Amino acid sequence: MDSINGVPQGHIFYRNLSKKYTLIDRAEGIYLYDSNGNRIIDGAAGAAVVCLGHNNERVIKALNDQAKKVAFTHLSTFTNEPILRLSHELAKITPRRLNRVYFASGGSEAVEASLKLARQYHIENGNPQKFKIISRTTSYHGATIGALSMTGHYPRRKLYLPYLTPYPRITTPYCWRCPFQKTPKRCEFECAHDLERAIVAEDPENISAFIAEPIIGASAPAVAPPKGYYRIIQRICHKYDILFIADEVMTGFGRTGKFFAMEHYEVFPDMMALSKGISSGYSPLGALIIDESIYDVISASPTHSFIHGHTFGGNPLSAAVGLEVLKIIEEDRLVERVARLGEYLLKGLKELRSHKIVGDVRCVGLLAGIEFVKDRRGKKPFPEELGLGSRLQRICLRNGLYVYPGRVSSIVDGGDHIMLAPPYIITEDEIDLMLNILERSITELERDLP
Ligand SMILES: Cc1ncc(COP(=O)(O)O)c(C=O)c1O
Repeated sequence: MDSINGVPQGHIFYRNLSKKYTLIDRAEGIYLYDSNGNRIIDGAAGAAVVCLGHNNERVIKALNDQAKKVAFTHLSTFTNEPILRLSHELAKITPRRLNRVYFASGGSEAVEASLKLARQYHIENGNPQKFKIISRTTSYHGATIGALSMTGHYPRRKLYLPYLTPYPRITTPYCWRCPFQKTPKRCEFECAHDLERAIVAEDPENISAFIAEPIIGASAPAVAPPKGYYRIIQRICHKYDILFIADEVMTGFGRTGKFFAMEHYEVFPDMMALSKGISSGYSPLGALIIDESIYDVISASPTHSFIHGHTFGGNPLSAAVGLEVLKIIEEDRLVERVARLGEYLLKGLKELRSHKIVGDVRCVGLLAGIEFVKDRRGKKPFPEELGLGSRLQRICLRNGLYVYPGRVSSIVDGGDHIMLAPPYIITEDEIDLMLNILERSITELERDLP
């Protein structure tokens, strides 16, 4: 049987069976240490998860203390102090009437709950025909069948198409590759008005909700629509009695330099899905935060119930972790820190444009994306078979940096990219180190290219 440093390998079912996985032994702050003692900067915080960094003593203590008190009770009958406290604290930081918290154990679960809740809301309101969810062509909302039905990332959908509900999708607000060939000066928000086109084409009577990542994550990291975009989206949603769901699974909890990315746009959705940074990865946690008016409709319904639930949703252990993470973010003023460090990171990233293969460079807070192109003027991507993002990831890992690779899908000519999303505790010196490794790795990659 194969082993890595004496740990048997025989029976694990990895996602990718052809890949060699690095065994991480321990982690501290922004660093991971593999079983050979090599130090790797966790430049993507897992997948934009470990916002406080590794081995945070306060979070570990909160987890430990709660495990000793009570680790699990089922929410069908019992409640617990951590969920009550965490929902209270969350309601304080969420905008306006986003005051009710439904707990889940991850991003897909939170998004799946939003789809079902939107449906039940419209039924209870006397609109049982409203069921379709509109999303955007370049998006990732999760791996479960409902969340994947709303996702625009074709490679992740392809295999499961027969199971997926064929919901409509609108164009992506991706200015560097504007689907309407506009420049920022000539922009008339065609991509936002596309929502109205889709609603009318499908008949507003059938549309339940519109879902979007306020700033795009895995499928086109840090692509942010221009200011004004979400005002138009919200106006259209109101006009046709359609709920607006913000998928803040990646962007929430300070990642973009605001507590929630929608704050950059001063527009507030009807529901907000959260996960990842909410627990900094110390325990699986997700949440759906909803507008008081949706809660009131469910509360006044004949069953007084949201007909949905998962075993681990609302478990005290994860909530205790979430509560401590939130306290630390607030006490250490980490959101402000992310905003400040984000500007520093962006400056450094722009310097990478001296490399011909670096196309678009984007960064909002500590969520950054670099898109690679074969020809910068024509913005032509490298062929997919080259696997450029994964190649760069391997080189970076060898050099001591972990980055998250991907390829823009559902956009004409979308290219390979990497995402950076380091822990909020990273320092300017460590950002320099990260950029230095990245720059060296891009140079190596260029040398390797055919
Ligand atoms: C925006 C967004 N929504 C939903 C999800 C799904 O979350 P999970 O993988 O925890 O199910 C992700 C995961 O990357 C995400 O980035």
